Amino acid sequence: MGSYAVKKIGVIERYQEFLPVTEKTPIISLNEGNTPLILAEALPCELGLKDVRIYYKFEGLNPTGSFKDRGMTMAISKALEEKATAVICASTGNTSASAAAFAARSGLKCYVLIPEGKIAKGKLMQAYRYGAKVIMIRGNFDQALKLVREIGEEGSVTIVNSINPFRIQGQKTAAFEIIDDLGDAPEYHVIPVGNAGNITSYWLGYQEYKKAGKSKVLPKMLGFQAAGAAPIVHGHPVEKPETIATAIRIGNPASWKSAEAARDESGGLIEAVTDEEIGRAYRFIAERDGVFAEPASAAAVAGFIKLAKRNYFKPKTKIVITLTGSGLKDPDYALSFDDPIESVEPELEAVKEIMEK
Ligand code: F0G
Repeated sequence: MGSYAVKKIGVIERYQEFLPVTEKTPIISLNEGNTPLILAEALPCELGLKDVRIYYKFEGLNPTGSFKDRGMTMAISKALEEKATAVICASTGNTSASAAAFAARSGLKCYVLIPEGKIAKGKLMQAYRYGAKVIMIRGNFDQALKLVREIGEEGSVTIVNSINPFRIQGQKTAAFEIIDDLGDAPEYHVIPVGNAGNITSYWLGYQEYKKAGKSKVLPKMLGFQAAGAAPIVHGHPVEKPETIATAIRIGNPASWKSAEAARDESGGLIEAVTDEEIGRAYRFIAERDGVFAEPASAAAVAGFIKLAKRNYFKPKTKIVITLTGSGLKDPDYALSFDDPIESVEPELEAVKEIMEK
């Protein structure tokens, strides 16, 4: 070994004083976290917003391509500390990919229950290739989570969905990073809401860091659900949730109450955006700001655009939008738009003709 001194560390090592770990906790990490805050340029320009700063917290750059890795390093490390032998989760895709990766690294067996036909191909591929036992349910996420709870109650398998409190603990580190980078919390935090663990985690993180004297501001938490899967917005569960943003295709979120608390305590809101708005936002940030996030992440951008058009944001403020997962996760959606990729014979004229179109 040479004197290679750069040591990238994961969220447990970086924030251990704020996390329920001890020297005895075996840390299973993939160097998750430490994701960038990318300044949005085209977005404020397009909306005519001159005196606000908008940042994308790009969680798609985590080791398995979503924010879930922050919570999973905690959940898997604690499962190992507590001498578990197997873990299980229900998932719309990203949780299963992350659970499978961290379980692989830890030696724990991993079972994932996913809604058949309703998860993005990249996520299914990840869970499968990291070696989890993938079980497809002919039903939706809510039904899969109910089954997982029942199996968890039997006691031999540890649940690593966000009903596992260690997941929320790990995920709150994203708020810490934002404050560490900006020097304070932003005035507004925009985030997609599915099972509602992440909005809960950020709010916890922002509050804890403020209590520790690391920040002065608490952001308003602005959550967005897909219109066809918006139980918190409607105030009742949705039996058959439907949206192209399959990651947030959830009708009965586990952290419903704490998401409402985050909304109300912060003076924020939780609203819905349509699939069409999600699609437009998805394309805009990729085509104009060069940031490729998955449809569920674009729900937050769509929500931001909606609020900006209502003149919701105060001038001279900072706004952070969490882009929860990578656009690479969902190739089918990426290629589903009606601007076809053309094919031609390998001839100069033919290529030029298309270039000039
Ligand atoms: N964005 C992405 C990309 C997600 O995968 C999820 C949730 C969310 C947003 C919503 O976060 O559930 O904490 O409110 N995905 C879960 C999963 C449900 O199984 O991967 P949340």
